[in-house]
Amino acid sequence: MTTDDSHNGHEAIERVERIWIGVSLALIAMFVILVFFAVHTHGAHIGHSETRKPVDEIMAMPEFADPGVEQIAPDQYRVTIVAQAFSFIPRRVEVPAGAEIEFRLAARDVLHGFNVKGTAINVEVIPGEVSTLRYTFDEPGTYPLICNQYCGIAHHDMVGFLTVVDPDEMAVVAETPENGEPVDEAQARRVYGNQCAACHQVDGTGTPGTFPPLVGHVPALHAAEGGREYLIDIVLYGLQGEIEVEGRTYRGMMPPMPRLSDEDIAATLNHALQAWGNADALPGDFSPITADEVAQRRDQELGPADVLQQREALDLD
Ligand code: CUA
Repeated sequence: MTTDDSHNGHEAIERVERIWIGVSLALIAMFVILVFFAVHTHGAHIGHSETRKPVDEIMAMPEFADPGVEQIAPDQYRVTIVAQAFSFIPRRVEVPAGAEIEFRLAARDVLHGFNVKGTAINVEVIPGEVSTLRYTFDEPGTYPLICNQYCGIAHHDMVGFLTVVDPDEMAVVAETPENGEPVDEAQARRVYGNQCAACHQVDGTGTPGTFPPLVGHVPALHAAEGGREYLIDIVLYGLQGEIEVEGRTYRGMMPPMPRLSDEDIAATLNHALQAWGNADALPGDFSPITADEVAQRRDQELGPADVLQQREALDLD
């Protein structure tokens, strides 16, 4: 190797370095331009989030204790969603086209994402913070809700659905009882619709392979010794593991829902016990589950696996 060669070598390296620095600067410039582009043309914005609070305190706020869709003005709806491993609660929401939708989002456990596919809505849901954003959907359609922060082993299963309907087809979401219906029954249907229907379906028929049907099954559980307590416990503490109902296997996870009030749990269980013709399978002396009974099952420190054992101990035929 001559001195000349080494000199040329240095020059070559310097040239490559300059190109490299140039490319890096160009990339940074491009990112900045893209951010401005997104802000100005796609309506993206840097969201605001309330001051930090302990997660428990946020989950205890009435809106997060019972998340869902609420009409707050003639043309304004509030959609409250809890993100948790690995689901959005509620999993399905329905809003009318053309109305202003205020989203309120909070995480129960770890960092999740909330992306409404096909829109500019894409926020981080940070534990201990409430994210608020507003959006108006112009066109009816179904938009998948996607978690885009890796939150654990089943992160890829964390999806939900937002359905934008024609304003005339909007189901009643206000807490107005139907004619003559007792208030707690209207409340029960609302809680069932928000918490249970995504998996067990509005008509209680369940989801094959994952979530068992409630039709026919809930009265059978209730009839077993200890079944009444089991029904309360499964809502309070959840259930994890494989179960069999009428010869079919179900492997879905029932999340614990201790944040629901005693009244809501009692009313929703009574709804599941009596709806869809289940009332016919109840004994003549059936008395509805009371809020007191629910209160007595709290503070047992059970987990979803304990509730599975409890179920296995039930004498079901
Ligand atoms: Cu939640 Cu990924």
